[in-house]
Amino acid sequence: MDYGNILVNREGPIASIVINRPDTLNALNEKVLTELFAAFNELESDRTVKVVVLTGAGKAFIAGADIKHMSELTPLQARHFAQMGHSLLGRMEDSRLPIIAAVNGFALGGGCELMMACDIVIASSKAKIGQPEINLGISPGFGGTQRLPRLVGRMRAKELLLTGDSITAQQAYELGLVNRVVEPEEFEDAVMELAKRIAGKSAVQLDFIKRLVNRGADIDLISANNLEIATFSSSFSTHDQREGMKAFIEKRAPLFRDE
Ligand code: COA
Repeated sequence: MDYGNILVNREGPIASIVINRPDTLNALNEKVLTELFAAFNELESDRTVKVVVLTGAGKAFIAGADIKHMSELTPLQARHFAQMGHSLLGRMEDSRLPIIAAVNGFALGGGCELMMACDIVIASSKAKIGQPEINLGISPGFGGTQRLPRLVGRMRAKELLLTGDSITAQQAYELGLVNRVVEPEEFEDAVMELAKRIAGKSAVQLDFIKRLVNRGADIDLISANNLEIATFSSSFSTHDQREGMKAFIEKRAPLFRDE
């Protein structure tokens, strides 16, 4: 697929998706959502890819859903737009690929929502994060009212959602919304170093573990633990389990492969 609003690059097992609308601070409209959905599908089916880095061009990660686009929507069109956002974020959470959000700048509204559907978040110290929808007279539409309280707790989520205030990367780190805060000059290296380390792991286990954490969080503990037991036991039919344990016993690095 030809992408007009995003850039998709591959460097060995590491793929990157860059939202490339810097003039609008990478605001999300229907075209961007459609292209992102297609890009995640494309990368998922490429067996050489093991990890995805998602970032934005210029000074923003994503400054939210496109306000000019939204200003024209009828309630029915707004419903469709929200459903597109939810489908994309669900697709990201269901992907076998770990997704690193490289939050280089503003992550507001839909940007914060996309960030929360990623697996690990590295933020530049200059990033600003928040859910300012209330200031536009709307509520969040891409999962903000659901993922934010699940990540930081209801009280903290409501403060952010009801005030619409942005917080710094450091404050987001303290809330547990961001894994690491890095100075801008070290940002790209830190993201690539993490991506490389994850890309060296077993692709099968990246998929299994991501799925267990994401799906387990939404079901009761007994069912989630049973899912873990089933997944753990099926790990013992994989090459990577045999290789990982053999390599440990032989005191060498394991050579994992897709299976
Ligand atoms: N949708 C559409 N366009 C957006 C946008 C959005 N969410 N966020 C920024 N832009 C556009 C601006 O309209 C401006 O376009 P223009 O040059 O044609 O006027 C351009 O991006 C640059 O933004 P600007 O406001 O000039 O940059 P800034 O550094 O002064 O401020 C922000 C940055 C992020 C604080 C400010 O752009 C902002 O508040 N954006 C909206 C954030 C928001 O409410 N997001 C949630 C949407 S649900």
